[in-house]
Amino acid sequence: MKVIAVCGSPRTNGNSDVLCDQFLKGAGEAGCETQKIQIGKTKISPCYACYVCKETGRCVQNDGMDEILEKIIHSDVILLATPVYFYSMDAQMKIFIDRSLARYQEIKDKTFYFAITAADTRHEAMEPTIAGLNGYTACLPGAVVKDIFYGTGTWEKGDILGLPVMKKIFEAGKSLG
Ligand SMILES: Cc1cc2nc3c(=O)[nH]c(=O)nc-3n(C[C@H](O)[C@H](O)[C@H](O)COP(=O)(O)O)c2cc1C
Repeated sequence: MKVIAVCGSPRTNGNSDVLCDQFLKGAGEAGCETQKIQIGKTKISPCYACYVCKETGRCVQNDGMDEILEKIIHSDVILLATPVYFYSMDAQMKIFIDRSLARYQEIKDKTFYFAITAADTRHEAMEPTIAGLNGYTACLPGAVVKDIFYGTGTWEKGDILGLPVMKKIFEAGKSLG
């Protein structure tokens, strides 16, 4: 089983990053092949909406997204982790999603998990962010969203440590074996 965590945060060891590591740690202990893609630290450009990919199945931009899509297409389980920025997903996660256009129909039959980090403690305040991620998975053939992890009440790096979501996301990773 191939498990990928896509981390939208630009902060290394930030709250989303730590949740990704916990998930992958659990999955690794369960015998899965694991990989983290730090999309928040990768310089991928927004979609140009040129629609060349409709004809060719490939993006005209050569910035590493091809390689990322290849990994996503060949994975089984995908964790999408994003910090909340102004009550939505962060820009890097949105760019990743939009740049899937070239091959999104090949992202088939995947199991998804979402991890959302935010200073706000209210789960209902995460709804616009979750709606955006659901908008993506709804376009992918056979996608199933299995669970959502709330890293709420986190502001500074490290605030996530010790929260119950750490154990919850680890256990979810571990259940994948
Ligand atoms: C540009 C920006 C906008 C933010 N907007 C919100 C927001 O609308 N609501 C909220 O609860 N937290 C907001 N935050 C706080 C982050 O969501 C929070 O610090 C989160 O834990 C960061 O996760 P990370 O460590 O994975 O980057 C914002 C932070 C930044 C940098």
